[in-house]
Amino acid sequence: MRAEIKIYTVRQEFGAAVAERWLDFYRESVAEHGDFHVALAGGSTPRQLYHLLSRTDISRKVDWQRVHIYFGDERFVPGDHPDSNFRMARESLLDHVPVPDANIHRIETESGDMQEVAYRYEQVLVNHLPKAENGVPRFDLVLLGIGPDGHTASLFPDTDILNQQERYVDAVYVKQKSSWRVSITFPVINSARHVLFLVAGADKRSVVQQILSGSPHSPQFPVEMLKPLGQVEFYLDSEAAGRIDSRD
Ligand code: 6PG
Repeated sequence: MRAEIKIYTVRQEFGAAVAERWLDFYRESVAEHGDFHVALAGGSTPRQLYHLLSRTDISRKVDWQRVHIYFGDERFVPGDHPDSNFRMARESLLDHVPVPDANIHRIETESGDMQEVAYRYEQVLVNHLPKAENGVPRFDLVLLGIGPDGHTASLFPDTDILNQQERYVDAVYVKQKSSWRVSITFPVINSARHVLFLVAGADKRSVVQQILSGSPHSPQFPVEMLKPLGQVEFYLDSEAAGRIDSRD
């Protein structure tokens, strides 16, 4: 995958750099069309970014009325459950910035069964996001993490959602986690203007090496199946980067 790569040894520098990049994308999008439509990543790595966005001078540079928050995926749990990606984002960011409630588009896991939840969220994307030239709802920015098994969002190895090329959101049973999830699909991620991967920890090193070494190989991980039309950037800590070098 062709991508810019930034590597940081010091965790604070990693977080600060990602927050500044988020601000760049915000400014570019508002200048272009007046709003900023961003899909948040779940897991633990983004928590630092969300904290920095809400508690530093960056927050004062953002017109939060223009920011529209979405989620790349969600565990099939209530919105106040400890495993909820929405709860993590609420606690680390949304409760601390004046983003209007109407601009927060969570995946409403309590609104029906998994397929109904996925369908409803797909309608949210269709009704609120600009469209790419191919007609697919287009985020200004999709934040993503990568798991040690090469999953991203909830696009896990050996799951049916990897073959989903029609729907923009789908439900998926993740046997590796013994749980259901709802996730945006490859078509939506591929259509985003910007994709920003936040990857930290030595447990990601082998996946990062495989996907970014540049050596010819057949795609093995879900993240390698992405065909992004927009700009892709990787922000890595040195633990995850291993022998990979920064590149523009
Ligand atoms: C989730 C995320 C998932 C995450 C990766 C990396 O809901 O867990 O969508 O794709 O980004 O598992 O997680 P960490 O950042 O915690 O390593």
